[in-house]
Amino acid sequence: MTQQTRKTATQDWDKAGWRAYPRVQMPDYTDPAALNGVESQLRRYPPLVFAGEARRLRAQLADAAAGRAFLLQGGDCAESFSEFSADNLRDTFKVLLQMAVVLTWGAQMPVIKVGRMAGQFAKPRSAPTEVIDGVELPSYRGDIINGFDFTAESRIPDPTRMLAAYTQASASLNLLRAFSTGGFADMHRVQSWIADFVGGDEAARYRDIAGRIGDAMAFMQAAGVNSDTAHQLSKVDFYTSHEALLLEYEEALARIDSTTGLPVAGSGHMIWIGDRTRQPDGAHVEFCRGVQNPIGLKCGPSTTADDLKVLMAKLNPENEAGRLTLIARFGAGKVGDHLPRLIKAVQEEGANVVWSCDPMHGNVIKSSTGYKTRAFDSILSEVREFFGVHKAEGTIPGGVHFEMTGKDVTECTGGVRAVTDEDLSDRYHTACDPRLNASQSLELAFLVAEELRARREDAAPQRTAVAI
Ligand code: PEP
Ligand code: CO
Repeated sequence: MTQQTRKTATQDWDKAGWRAYPRVQMPDYTDPAALNGVESQLRRYPPLVFAGEARRLRAQLADAAAGRAFLLQGGDCAESFSEFSADNLRDTFKVLLQMAVVLTWGAQMPVIKVGRMAGQFAKPRSAPTEVIDGVELPSYRGDIINGFDFTAESRIPDPTRMLAAYTQASASLNLLRAFSTGGFADMHRVQSWIADFVGGDEAARYRDIAGRIGDAMAFMQAAGVNSDTAHQLSKVDFYTSHEALLLEYEEALARIDSTTGLPVAGSGHMIWIGDRTRQPDGAHVEFCRGVQNPIGLKCGPSTTADDLKVLMAKLNPENEAGRLTLIARFGAGKVGDHLPRLIKAVQEEGANVVWSCDPMHGNVIKSSTGYKTRAFDSILSEVREFFGVHKAEGTIPGGVHFEMTGKDVTECTGGVRAVTDEDLSDRYHTACDPRLNASQSLELAFLVAEELRARREDAAPQRTAVAI
């Protein structure tokens, strides 16, 4: 789209315009003066990301829409203030890089790496209050809004938490940028971490893939392609993303891109609209339609084809590839009921979208031991169903979206280093939904890579035997 037409799309938009629309899942702050003070402070702070980076991500996502790249988005369900540390950031980043290398092998195309990091602090909740031992208190809504502790005081929404979230996000980004370019992300290191993982007895079935990745690296090295000669091997492009839920924070960090003169969300490279806040006439859609970042839209079982058509027209009026990623999250066993009808809606509109699969949010169950969990097998089933539907429809599965951590937590069950219902109490640390641990995340990447590989082999023209 030309700058001129994009201006037309946003000239009836103002960063504060969302305030006139119905809002859900947002806190009612009780001290307007304190809120105003925080907002004006944030307005003066630098943006966390720069418009050119968001534009570059959008261009890369356009490749994913066309089947020339694959999106990997992952990280915490909810980042928390108490779990913030360099080690935690490093470990999550490290697993994402390993997953990306394995997926690159599977897809045979570039993998776009996007963290649910440096801003993923606000959470939609299924109920406004929660009851524990007969005591009812407002629900926890993420560290940017209120506190996790189950006390009346901690659950009061506190606007100064936005400043703490901004500080944490900016320190996180600082480290992530250093990790991305300072040698830590060197492809040879990443490959050696993968080799360490498959060294374990349980991971035998992944050894073959890891061996083939190692061979490819060795071949490149022998051919003189190494980190000194090819800088792409020593650094990565890494992007941040979060749910744009707390619109006071988003508005205060919105900026005008000096290159294009257009508004951009300065809070993260990509923002998404959650399944509970995607009302076509609601405040969240109103805010997101006006910023030029790539936008994600969660699509759950209740997403109607008509709503999706309205949302696509509002969020991507110029039908630019890379602008809109539809993140399907239906639950294992339900993809076949919903994805085909939404693919049809996209096709009827001739819309350019990236289709990504979030196999996490439709698969939350209560374990026999009372924990909120997700079974590795259900997660894998949903991914497989997603690929299967795209294959049947002749459309492109463009990415995956996971809740995961680099730590050895016990929050999801299953995987080769099996976590059982009884194990969940050992290391259950999430501030919100259960995450895949490092081993489960990498294992899933191997399994998704096999799916991608099979898809490529199916698509390849049949080779006839060639006499040599
Ligand atoms: C999330 O991604 O953490 C989330 C709440 O997802 P959804 O909006 O799909 O339920
Ligand atoms: Co979640």
